[in-house]
Amino acid sequence: MVNIILLGPPGAGKGTQAKRLVDERAMVQLSTGDMLREAKSSGTEMGRRVADVMARGQLVTDDIVIGLIEEKIGQGAGGGFIFDGFPRTLKQADALAALLQKTGQTLDAVVEMQVDDAALVARITGRFTCGKCGEVYHDKTRPTKVSGTCDVCGSHDLKRRADDNEDALKTRLMEYYKKTSPLIGYYYAKNQLSTVDGLAEMDSVAAAISKILDKT
Ligand code: AP5
Repeated sequence: MVNIILLGPPGAGKGTQAKRLVDERAMVQLSTGDMLREAKSSGTEMGRRVADVMARGQLVTDDIVIGLIEEKIGQGAGGGFIFDGFPRTLKQADALAALLQKTGQTLDAVVEMQVDDAALVARITGRFTCGKCGEVYHDKTRPTKVSGTCDVCGSHDLKRRADDNEDALKTRLMEYYKKTSPLIGYYYAKNQLSTVDGLAEMDSVAAAISKILDKT
């Protein structure tokens, strides 16, 4: 069992690689972005509160996302957890360390996915996902085999995110550099940081992540 964090700016490929690890290693993906979007679409009070903040590309409060992770982490995971989009602040990183300790678990690797900002605009503005199974696609780099139909589950419910536009992306990037990028130094100092080239092809990124996991 291996617990890892995928760390990187919006569009770095965290969700794409997390889904592969779920399929290949029976790991459990904990994406705070997906959890928040689910709360929003199921119309919970919290979902309504975060909707505007997310659409603008700002971070929601630490307490909300720490609460979401706390609910899941105690349940354990066969192949381990993939923390995707969490932690995003130093407060969240400290909270994760405390939660893992409290539940007798360890953090085995932090994988920083390095990409340059210019590539992110193209990735984000071309992205769409399956509303039923969550599979991630891209107009150019990963289109569906049959137009309008999810390759995995056959659903026709393919969606684009409200925050996948250039304006919100600018805010998301600013939030990343101001609040999340300090985590790179934080985990480096803890000797837990590894880096992969997120601009490489999806299979090469997956192979680089696998290599890191095999060494833990
Ligand atoms: P979240 O859902 O976490 O979004 P994000 O971090 O902005 O990351 P993305 O999902 O946009 O990108 P990704 O790295 O997963 O890339 P993907 O694999 O899809 O968060 C959304 C919002 O929720 C936040 O803005 C905030 O408001 C809130 N939130 C969430 N967590 C929070 C927290 N912890 N604290 C506070 N607020 C929080 O790939 C992108 C595209 O590129 C896809 O189309 C894909 O097909 C393509 N692609 C992927 N890899 C490659 C490759 N190697 N080559 C070519 N194309 C590729």
